[in-house]
Amino acid sequence: MTNKTANNSTKNAKPVKSANKSTKNPAKPPKAGKEVIADYNGYDYKKIFWEDADRKYEDMADRLAIRRLLPEHMDTFVDIAGGYGRLADEYLDRAKVATLFDYSETELAQAHELYGDKIHTQPGDIYSLPFADDSFDALMMVRATHHFNNMTKVSDELYRILKPGGVAVIEVANKKTLPKMFRYWFKKSDVNPFSLEPAHLRDLNEQGFYNYHPKYIEEVFKKSGFKIDKVLSVSNFRSAKLKKMFGTKNLVRMEKSAQKLLAPIRFAPSIYYRLVK
Ligand SMILES: C[S@@+](CC[C@H](N)C(=O)[O-])C[C@H]1O[C@@H](n2cnc3c(N)ncnc32)[C@H](O)[C@@H]1O
Repeated sequence: MTNKTANNSTKNAKPVKSANKSTKNPAKPPKAGKEVIADYNGYDYKKIFWEDADRKYEDMADRLAIRRLLPEHMDTFVDIAGGYGRLADEYLDRAKVATLFDYSETELAQAHELYGDKIHTQPGDIYSLPFADDSFDALMMVRATHHFNNMTKVSDELYRILKPGGVAVIEVANKKTLPKMFRYWFKKSDVNPFSLEPAHLRDLNEQGFYNYHPKYIEEVFKKSGFKIDKVLSVSNFRSAKLKKMFGTKNLVRMEKSAQKLLAPIRFAPSIYYRLVK
């Protein structure tokens, strides 16, 4: 995975300067106007991130939320930044026409291998989606907000391509989690999880990740015109220690009850929103 800045042309994409790798010194977000593309071309996300790692619990937590939030029947649906289609089996039976949109040709080629003609693939950059206004009954975007430094533009684009009354199911990487609070209180991190501005964390890989405070992101969605219909707290027990103690099966059982119950406090690493245009 490499990093690029977008100017609506992927050919002219330039690498972003690398910065401090510690969360103690969060890097400054790139200047306004320079949107970052996390380039998954040539990166085997499926194998490295999902198959070689113990992430069955996280995968099931995503699926539980999607089953609860996605409309049962859709004529037109798009999975935005959908990667290789990890979650396609959650929507293929619900949608008459399903499209998978992603920047990475590597991911889209894998999706084609897995699903053939059952799914349309469309490459492009989220900051200028190659779809007409009012195109889709529903869309989904999971595990992607952490790559985006301009969520206002992303949210406006998602709103634009939905039909009036259309539904967007969006997962947001949460800045205000319990572990992040403890890291802040015990001075392991300078990132204040209570402040509203987006956090740019660089502890996990070169390009880092953006985390969003729920209040900040909800304001962004509302400014685009979305109505927040439902919220779920997801991946509540994302911890290697908890996996060891309880086992994946039990954690998934606990996750099932926790998603609605814990939604009001918004402390989980993933917050899922069901938005309506
Ligand atoms: C962590 S993966 C998530 C994939 C899938 N949604 C899932 O949950 O398995 C993030 C995806 O975002 C895509 N992506 C990153 N920046 C993008 C951009 N600017 N436009 C479109 N897709 C982008 C990557 O290619 C990658 O497939």
